[in-house]
Amino acid sequence: KQAHDDDTDPRDFVAKMKKGKKRLVIFYGSQTGTAEEYAIRIAKEAKSRFGIASLVCDPEEYDFENLDQIPEDSAAVFVMATYGEGEPTDNAVQLMQNLEDDSFAFSNGEHKLDGLKYIVFGLGNKTYEHYNVISKYVDQHLTKAGAQRIGTVGQGDDDKSMEEDYLEWKDGMWEAFSQALNVEEGSGGDTPDFSVTELASHPQEKVYLGELSARALTRTKGIHDAKNPYPAPITHSRELFAIGKERNCVHMELNIEGSGVMYQHGDHVGVWPSNPDVEVERLLCALGLAEKRDTVIGIESLDPALAKVPFPVPSTYATVLRHYIDISAVAGRQILGTFSKFAPNEAAEAVLKRLNTDKEEYHNVIANGCLKLGEVLQLAAGNDLHAIPTPENTTPWKIPFDIIVSAIPRLQPRYFSISSSPKLHPNSIHITAVVLKYQSVASNVAPSKWVFGVGSNFLLNLKYAANGETAPLVVEGGETVPASVSLPTYAIEGPRSAYRQETIYKVPIHVRRSTFRLPTNPKSPIIMIGPGTGVAPFRGFVQERLALARRAKDKNGPDALKDWGKMSLFYGCRRSDEDFLYKDEWPTYSEELGDKFAMHIAFSREPPYKPDGSKIYVQDLLWEDREHISNAILNLKGYVYICGDAKNMSKAVEDKLAAMLGEAKGGSAEVEGAQELKVLKERSRLMLDVWS
Ligand code: 2AM
Repeated sequence: KQAHDDDTDPRDFVAKMKKGKKRLVIFYGSQTGTAEEYAIRIAKEAKSRFGIASLVCDPEEYDFENLDQIPEDSAAVFVMATYGEGEPTDNAVQLMQNLEDDSFAFSNGEHKLDGLKYIVFGLGNKTYEHYNVISKYVDQHLTKAGAQRIGTVGQGDDDKSMEEDYLEWKDGMWEAFSQALNVEEGSGGDTPDFSVTELASHPQEKVYLGELSARALTRTKGIHDAKNPYPAPITHSRELFAIGKERNCVHMELNIEGSGVMYQHGDHVGVWPSNPDVEVERLLCALGLAEKRDTVIGIESLDPALAKVPFPVPSTYATVLRHYIDISAVAGRQILGTFSKFAPNEAAEAVLKRLNTDKEEYHNVIANGCLKLGEVLQLAAGNDLHAIPTPENTTPWKIPFDIIVSAIPRLQPRYFSISSSPKLHPNSIHITAVVLKYQSVASNVAPSKWVFGVGSNFLLNLKYAANGETAPLVVEGGETVPASVSLPTYAIEGPRSAYRQETIYKVPIHVRRSTFRLPTNPKSPIIMIGPGTGVAPFRGFVQERLALARRAKDKNGPDALKDWGKMSLFYGCRRSDEDFLYKDEWPTYSEELGDKFAMHIAFSREPPYKPDGSKIYVQDLLWEDREHISNAILNLKGYVYICGDAKNMSKAVEDKLAAMLGEAKGGSAEVEGAQELKVLKERSRLMLDVWS
């Protein structure tokens, strides 16, 4: 808006660079914020190493006609995530089109970008077929148009080693950068991003206690989205199974009546978790802020173009740690170097420095041990990681809070595939979440401990709270287990009246649209493959068809489904009496849908096994049924859906599909089969909702 006032086109990044004396423009193609974080890190490093200021840009907000007008002494950086099946993120769609479009100024071979220097860092996931293709495209298009790349194309693997990949890439890149722009290292300085002020008095109703926007704070009615999640009351929750303390699965129904929140079968629901009490406490103590937990703080960005305050303020120390930043993530190697400067003693400083510089040590102790920042600080100071943290047993570090805010990423929503259909449940969204917990690998300095996934354990603990159950043990074998949940104030309601005693627990949510949908024509046969919690969306799919079937029967009588395609669900779990999800529901669906619904179940850990004794999985059942499946796909215009584990399952299933289609076409899996799968994907008749 400001730019507009002084007549600069707000979509002209070159004008903005010149005006702000910025020599780098950094574009990020980001879906969940990770690419944006790396963009900001690059900007910060350019500043601290070379004193060069950057313009960090959401490509959606700018035009690209003047990419060729970036001055000689400047460069452009592209930090690009590859999403799904090799697609750009939503905010980079336009940018990619501009680069690819032959009629667009610089990609028609006229070498219009001769003077442009550029840097590329890609974010992708190796378990997906099209690993990091977007960054590769960007590089190819720019090179083709005559631009010169600085350094190599960085490639981060989200599945395993994003941080290490970045660290490994960037030093070489900065060296090349220094030559390409003819600048010297060391001309920058360590400038803080934010200033944090403690506010002596502040009107209580203006303090953010977990809300994500002003809209949420003032409770103005309006649409609910990722900036204004809807606190949905829990109407029902239970455990679908609980095996020992290691494996359990939560079913939760959230009430969206009257909220304006809408969803479709196959959509995702974003759940905004809170960090567990024990971790909040640990970090408050390790930062020496336990006594000041509720002090109201204001945070201001010292360079708003480079670093926005990532959450709304004023807030309190405890709220920031509980609701706004991801203190439960494994501590990054790079930040440990910064933090070592604020160690309470030399020994602690030495430990942190070593973890920062010695990659192997970092890997063994922190990465394998899954240590969070609070735990690393405790470990370095010689505190007992397993005790309930208190100011007495935790050594305080004097790390300025502005550094905490810059160093720790913002807490992100966790996405779950919705397991209901709005046609059957118009007022509620169902979630089916397997609770993530596992034991970390012990190192020579830290013993093994339980690691808890933030999102799923948040739901589990809410289930306990909502049902008035006591959560299981808080301390087990001397170890603290987070069995608590503290909701932001907008998501909890106290007893309302003498007649209504209970507290109402709400889950902050928003809906993310998906293309994982049934075809509108019920005549198409449907093949659904979803072992484990991969079955979640398919429960919604079957409910959706069921609701349609009821309507059709009401209208046209019992024969209404005569021409309908068959829905085949391939489900897998360990044992019929253990982790079989919605065991009692499926028969009721079958009863109503008759032969239009068939379920094939692979119980991997009970007989029958294969002749060689190995387990039977969903892909084996698919193979057994290959005649029907190939026919459904090749002759009846069938649709195939795969949901669940991306690492092994979905690949194995695709291989089997290729094999059977290849066979049916009288060819091979590698040629005819692969070609058929490609076509199916292009026509959205083979769709994936997979995660790793
Ligand atoms: P397992 O744990 O006995 O190996 C849900 O998790 C189900 O998926 C379980 O029965 C699990 O079997 C099975 N599963 C594990 N790996 C798989 C794979 N690569 N392909 C298909 N199913 C798999």
